[in-house]
Amino acid sequence: MKKVILFFFIQIISVSLFSNPILESLVYKIRDPDTDKKEFREYLEKIGEYVAIDVAKDLNTKKQNIETVMQVKAEHNFVDEEIVLVTILRAGLPLFNGVFKVFPEAEAGFFAMQRNEKTLKASVDYVALPPIDNKTVIIADTMLATGGSMLDAIKIVEKRNPKKIILISAIAAQEGIDNILKHNPDIEIYPAYVDPILNEVGYIVPGLGDAGDRCYGNKITVSH
Ligand code: PRP
Ligand code: URA
Repeated sequence: MKKVILFFFIQIISVSLFSNPILESLVYKIRDPDTDKKEFREYLEKIGEYVAIDVAKDLNTKKQNIETVMQVKAEHNFVDEEIVLVTILRAGLPLFNGVFKVFPEAEAGFFAMQRNEKTLKASVDYVALPPIDNKTVIIADTMLATGGSMLDAIKIVEKRNPKKIILISAIAAQEGIDNILKHNPDIEIYPAYVDPILNEVGYIVPGLGDAGDRCYGNKITVSH
């Protein structure tokens, strides 16, 4: 396991790249156009689990003792933070499910957003959040492209006084990471992989295409 601290603007900022060949083999699978929807969701869920385990090692812990059958005490570290897991529909859902397996006691929140394919701006259609005051909020979304969707979610979360905000993504574009950290350098970002390019229509390159469609199929435009 290797933690790479990336340097931005001559400042150490918390982007944690959990470099691991098992995780990379899962990223390879979700990039593969032949991976079907069911497999795609399953691989994303695994990625969520692995990255969440990496996140856990950086959380506050408390010690707990257990007396074994040998009548000797063993001491272990447990996560000592109140966690709220949040995701952005649709594509964030399988990744979120994987993170939830690692933090099953967490409360959960949901955002529904639509990205306008021309302006690349997301509109927030639905927000369901538990109280997040002084809690650690982990936002899991599969793709961090321009960062626009995450930023909309972050701004809503920030107004409600969280202790800290952590982002998990499967693939993040460098530009999206930079946009988030420009907004708030205290946010901790855990991408499973960072891609270099964002094309003119806001897709990550090499990326994996439209993550929502890869999970659930094409969507139609419904005006309401
Ligand atoms: C994807 C992804 C993010 C967003 C990232 O969702 O799950 O929410 O794009 O792009 P951004 O960083 O440029 O905002 P998408 O808009 O494709 O919606 P979907 O999940 O419903 O398909
Ligand atoms: N949303 C996606 O689903 N894929 C991208 O590459 C960018 C945004």
